[in-house]
Amino acid sequence: MVFNAVDAMPEGGTLTLSTQEAGDEVVLTVADTGTGMAEEVRSRIFDPFFTTKGKAGMGLGLSVSYGIIRRHEGRVEVDSEVGRGTTFRMKFPVIGESDTQRIHETGPLPAARADGSLRILVVDDEDYVRELLADILEREGCEVVLAGEGREALSLFDGSGFDAVFTDVGLPGMSGWELSRAVRERDRAVALAVITGWGDTVTAEEQSAAQADWIVPKPFTIERIAGLVDEISQRKAAGVKPATTSAAR
Ligand SMILES: Nc1ncnc2c1ncn2[C@@H]1O[C@H](COP(=O)(O)OP(=O)(O)OP(=O)(O)O)[C@@H](O)[C@H]1O
Ligand SMILES: [Mg+2]
Repeated sequence: MVFNAVDAMPEGGTLTLSTQEAGDEVVLTVADTGTGMAEEVRSRIFDPFFTTKGKAGMGLGLSVSYGIIRRHEGRVEVDSEVGRGTTFRMKFPVIGESDTQRIHETGPLPAARADGSLRILVVDDEDYVRELLADILEREGCEVVLAGEGREALSLFDGSGFDAVFTDVGLPGMSGWELSRAVRERDRAVALAVITGWGDTVTAEEQSAAQADWIVPKPFTIERIAGLVDEISQRKAAGVKPATTSAAR
């Protein structure tokens, strides 16, 4: 939000960060005196990959912020006026002493899932994309393990049983296609989604050699990823091995 505010004030301006306790909420405010936004922009700013900055922006800053706010049981409001500036107000519940107690007792993370929920390995070298995928998958109830490149991903994959691997194509070192092939050599059945980047051209050879179950082009939607989770869970519940030959979807 701070970087966005700076981007919105190319001629300079005032950035104000403040916190405030209001009733049973804590309010965190990020306000700028920059360009502001028209309504058709404002209504889309939390969508993954929405940007007005062309190549300079990935359009992920605010969708990742949104996920972080939600994980803290907060919500966010935006006021913006063209030519005047923008104010983001994040509201979080105040944690009482009994809640603090509860958090210490249960630990900050849920215990290992015994309910058969999915364990998914996410591989992407872009922090934002990894965060976003983790957010979406965790909200769908999955346990997510993250890797930034192929070799790290493979050693994690060898260590423990995953239900699915989601990998980016443009990774440093080993490409996503190579990683997919290596995963397939180790495991015929694991669900495999390859997420292709903006400029990536996908040849039929690459696609069939990778033996991915899904090719997901960026920009993807939250619904697309959530839909994959549904498909993977259904297959898992039915004990069905994914059809690894029909790569293109
Ligand atoms: N403070 C702001 N003032 C004006 N417009 C804003 C502001 N914050 C966000 N926006 C608009 O919302 C869009 C989405 O913001 P977001 O942070 O998600 O992506 P980005 O800044 O374009 O790229 P990235 O954050 O991935 O580098 C921006 O492209 C911009 O149009
Ligand atoms: Mg941004």
